[in-house]
Amino acid sequence: MRAHLITHGCQMNEYDSHLVQSQLVSLGADMVGSVDEADFVLVNTCAVRGKPVDKVRSLLGELRIQKSRRKLVVGMMGCLAQLEEGQQIARKFEVDVLLGPGSLLDIGAALESNERFWGLQFKDELHDHIPPAPQGKLQAHLTIMRGCDHHCTYCIVPTTRGPQVSRHPDQIMRELDSLLAAGVQEVTLLGQNVNAYGFDAGAKLAGHPSFADLLRQVGSSGIRRVKFTTSHPMNFTEDVAVAMAETPAVCDFVHLPVQSGSDAVLRRMAREYTREKYLTHIGQIKRHLPDAVLATDIIVGFPGETEADFQDTLSLYDEVGYDSAYMFIYSPRPGTPSYKHFQDLPREVKTERLQRLIVRQKDWSARRNARFQGTVQEVLLRGDAHTAGSLEGHTRGNHPIVVPRAIGAAGAGLYQARVTATTPHMLYGELVGADGQTLPLMPNLEPAAAGMINPLPMV
Ligand code: 5AD
Ligand code: SF4
Repeated sequence: MRAHLITHGCQMNEYDSHLVQSQLVSLGADMVGSVDEADFVLVNTCAVRGKPVDKVRSLLGELRIQKSRRKLVVGMMGCLAQLEEGQQIARKFEVDVLLGPGSLLDIGAALESNERFWGLQFKDELHDHIPPAPQGKLQAHLTIMRGCDHHCTYCIVPTTRGPQVSRHPDQIMRELDSLLAAGVQEVTLLGQNVNAYGFDAGAKLAGHPSFADLLRQVGSSGIRRVKFTTSHPMNFTEDVAVAMAETPAVCDFVHLPVQSGSDAVLRRMAREYTREKYLTHIGQIKRHLPDAVLATDIIVGFPGETEADFQDTLSLYDEVGYDSAYMFIYSPRPGTPSYKHFQDLPREVKTERLQRLIVRQKDWSARRNARFQGTVQEVLLRGDAHTAGSLEGHTRGNHPIVVPRAIGAAGAGLYQARVTATTPHMLYGELVGADGQTLPLMPNLEPAAAGMINPLPMV
């Protein structure tokens, strides 16, 4: 079997795609890089907004055309697969294999069955499953929990991913060990709401540490960098900021989605916190981690959002001074309470507000990034950048950075870089040695030869 996997959506989906891909390989599949080469195409889907759903629809339309011309098995997995909406799409586009986020380990059974196979259960075995470490990668994701116990009125995820289940810490540490053994330097702990780790259905689980203690444990394993995503302000505790400050491996990067700066909107979203409570958490983070890089998610144009509510979001943005933000126009999702009960705002109102928010975000990101000018940052370089002769990677604060290749630093790895220019979205720099001196540039070096040069000793 020649299999091709297409992943839409968030880091959870990337993790799940890796898990399913390793299952496919263990079943003897060859993974191929394009639809044309494949006889099995599997699409990992996202359902959080209308746009990713539209994307899947058009992709499945193309695949149906290919199916009519040659032998091709089409599969759909992930969040959309779990929904009635997704199942209707699957029927329309003659999808053969459908796997919800809780049934990923059914991939083998699905391929063995000669009939249409739909797996939609949330199965416990998934939580104990440890996928093999990705090979040759310096960065990896590690799922510490699945599902979500919150019921934000706009959000489809509790339906698609089910109730929260925290993985046992022993499984998490075993998976971490295998990542470490494979040479991974940066791990991102994943969960819909990592701050609620160990408290499934609101009750403390015996044998599970708090999220803050899990951070301490993971951070003392020998891994160089630990990040996590994402946090719900409702479950955020000051101890998380304390654990971050105490544990050098944990990066000073916090993604704390606020969604809106207006209490009235937060209430209709059922976010379970107020603007004031949210700002208290931000104050705690800034107190314990004065250099923290802060990111958030914001939805504009939630039903009933007035201009005054939107102004509250802008003023909150200024009060926090975020480094970056993911900004979304509210998208009514069938099956969510806000879809059922609230009237969507006109599209022009939503897009105009988004434009104004983007201006605010760019302005802040420009200012926040400028503070790194001239500083030396630890960078995890992934490989070649688009610009010839340059490498790309990211800092501990998750800023993308581009540096020219230098002698002694020719490929992927952890290095030090001095920031020489900044934009709202990028940092540019030059690699420096342990003595802080700029490393000489390496012109005209063939990639093959570059790989033979020893990387700098880790810093
Ligand atoms: N419309 C727009 N944005 C949404 N998000 C979740 N649901 C919706 C929706 N219905 C955003 C939230 C969340 C991020 C992953 O996606 O900001 O934090
Ligand atoms: Fe990820 Fe949410 Fe999209 Fe599912 S719906 S893929 S959890 S962003």
